[in-house]
Amino acid sequence: MDPIDDAALMAAAEAARGFAHAPYSRFTVGAALLAADGTVVPGCNVENASYGATICAERTAVVSAVAGGRRRFLAVAVAGPAGIALGPCGLCRQVLSEFSPDGSLRVVTRDAAGAIRATTIGQLLPAAFSATDLENPRQS
Ligand code: THU
Repeated sequence: MDPIDDAALMAAAEAARGFAHAPYSRFTVGAALLAADGTVVPGCNVENASYGATICAERTAVVSAVAGGRRRFLAVAVAGPAGIALGPCGLCRQVLSEFSPDGSLRVVTRDAAGAIRATTIGQLLPAAFSATDLENPRQS
């Protein structure tokens, strides 16, 4: 099966954005994670009255995909409000990096004019802390 293109993945992210639960910030975000098997897993931000319990759209998609048995991903698209260039927050970059240790995961965003851009998680989070950093730790 041909993987879907950036525009189609962004359209899936925009659709997922419609399910966002963001009554506090009113800043709705959707994500669409393309798994290696071609499945597109949606995510949206899910806010909480205890603000720190909020989860971003990107992490919602990752945890949903993993809970569904998928851990290999090709790309993720992120859709936020029109008129701003939105990229994954630092926490989400770290979580996406967990499942793309080589940094090749494609990250699809929109710029302030609405044009689709693409980069990689390795570009967005160089020198990420990863599983290899936990190997043979000095116990001091
Ligand atoms: N948010 C996301 O869902 N993804 C991002 O990449 C940035 C921020 C959410 C978290 C919160 O619900 C709202 O946007 C405002 O920070």
